[in-house]
Amino acid sequence: MRIKEQIKNTGATFTPRELSVFLAERIAYYTQPKQNKVLDPACGEGELLLAMGEVLKANSIDFSLTGYDANEQYLNFTKDRLKHIEVRNAELHHKDFLQAIDIKNSRILPSLFDEYKSEVNNSFDIVIANPPYVRTQILGTEQAQALSKKFNLKGRVDLYYPFLIAMTESLKEGGLIGVITSNRYLSTKSGESVRKFLSENYEILELIDLGDTKLFNAAVLPAIFIGRKKQQRVPSPASFIKVYEDSNCYNSDFISVESIYELLNIKQAGYFSVNGKLYKKTTGILKYKIASGACWEMLSSEESEWVSKIDNSAKNRVEDFFKVKVGIKSTADKVFISDKWEKLKEEKPEDELLKELISQENIEPWNATDNFKLKVLYPHISIDGKKQTIDIENYPKAKKYFLKHEERLKSRKYLIDAGRKWFELWVPQHPDLWKFPKLVFPDISTKPRFYFDYGGKIVNGNCYWIVGVKKTDIDKLLLIQGIANSKLMTKYHDLVFKNKLYSGRRRYFSQYVERYPLPNINSAIAKEIISIVKNLNQSDDDKVILRLESQLEIKVAESFGVEPIFKLD
Ligand SMILES: C[S@@+](CC[C@H](N)C(=O)[O-])C[C@H]1O[C@@H](n2cnc3c(N)ncnc32)[C@H](O)[C@@H]1O
Repeated sequence: MRIKEQIKNTGATFTPRELSVFLAERIAYYTQPKQNKVLDPACGEGELLLAMGEVLKANSIDFSLTGYDANEQYLNFTKDRLKHIEVRNAELHHKDFLQAIDIKNSRILPSLFDEYKSEVNNSFDIVIANPPYVRTQILGTEQAQALSKKFNLKGRVDLYYPFLIAMTESLKEGGLIGVITSNRYLSTKSGESVRKFLSENYEILELIDLGDTKLFNAAVLPAIFIGRKKQQRVPSPASFIKVYEDSNCYNSDFISVESIYELLNIKQAGYFSVNGKLYKKTTGILKYKIASGACWEMLSSEESEWVSKIDNSAKNRVEDFFKVKVGIKSTADKVFISDKWEKLKEEKPEDELLKELISQENIEPWNATDNFKLKVLYPHISIDGKKQTIDIENYPKAKKYFLKHEERLKSRKYLIDAGRKWFELWVPQHPDLWKFPKLVFPDISTKPRFYFDYGGKIVNGNCYWIVGVKKTDIDKLLLIQGIANSKLMTKYHDLVFKNKLYSGRRRYFSQYVERYPLPNINSAIAKEIISIVKNLNQSDDDKVILRLESQLEIKVAESFGVEPIFKLD
């Protein structure tokens, strides 16, 4: 029995049988009919090796299997399984694969001639893998540093990245790789080095973003990469498939299939129903550049045209006017944030330190609810425009309260190590800024909730905010609010930033919202949008809000020269 902690530390989430066979079949499609040496460098209980062996056998292709794993127990299990299916040519190694491989030009390789000493390098025709997905810092400083040095890694990385480098070294020129990893690198800024590495070293054959299809039980959303190792280091075009659950699917033309695998194997894209759930499958050609930065673009040609139309008619991006900030972070919310301060009666800290807080629970697109009357104990002030921590001696009640929670607050060692006071907020932001008008929106939400605060409230760390310190900023904020709350921008967000989580939730990272397109702020249409938004912010009648939202949708679409979107599909 694998215990949870062990799985977390070694990244041992085993691939289910069906997904293993699916991956093996995709690889076999590109395999040459010759003797193929197959490697799984982190084979766990051997599911992928077995699937690859079975599929090659069924295609009458000769093969041998090699497995590595750092865990002997898993390997023993694999050994038994291989015996059962009578694979003759199999070797299993109880070794750390990242140590077994030599890395060319590595700073620790002393050889003058840059020759490989390891037999693993350049030896395999097929690599099939689901490498561990573990942040390297979990391994401990020494091991993490050794890995960074060997694989020339910068910053915090996940173990699957050095594995990708090592697996590439182990492949012969022209060899095939089929890997399952997290899909994070497809769209994140930090995934840029992985995307670059893969496009430089492989002819990309297939990229399948399995989105929220829950094909296996890992905490991350999976993706499959299939490539052929190439000599020439230039990016090549590739086909992609992405599949996401589509709970808003209004399209009645969907195809009924038995399983996600059937959906993947059918050439057709579109809407599918699998066991009562609806999915949208998109296919197309991977492109290498989009407006949002150096990402891989996974859009159908229709979607790509729609995004380009908006990009081309946009006059500005949010980042031309504003920086998006994150809210305050206390790292001890139970001490600093509450809606029950009054209950403390005499023990309540001084009122001037208790400030109203906007938190994601209270935000709606056009107004804030007061479901929770949250206040934050905010021990920061501004003196001559400079951010300062209060002198606790001037606030005896706050001092008493903080002392009551001294142990919890002082456990924030990083704060003390940074030479800060033990009762500070970890990220207080600048106290002078709260008084200005601002847009506030939750980091995670199923729909856009960009709320306009006319000033005064502090913003919680589960939200981002955009502050306008000049009078002329107000119209810009209102325009952004209108654009950002529209269905059109939700569609744009999904297509360009591709960061949907399970159950339709989206991330509204600052780096995304800063890239939102805007029409010319001085245009007549922008003024119309601003006027509708002002009415929306003042209305509390649901019917009126619905009518105004439709008007807004029409105007936002007109401002970008596309058709309005009343329902998201
Ligand atoms: C995500 S599991 C995948 C196992 C198997 N390939 C599958 O798909 O079912 C990752 C495996 O990597 C192994 N592992 C972790 N670090 C390793 C290393 N440095 N060298 C070799 N194996 C390692 C773990 O023991 C675990 O079995």
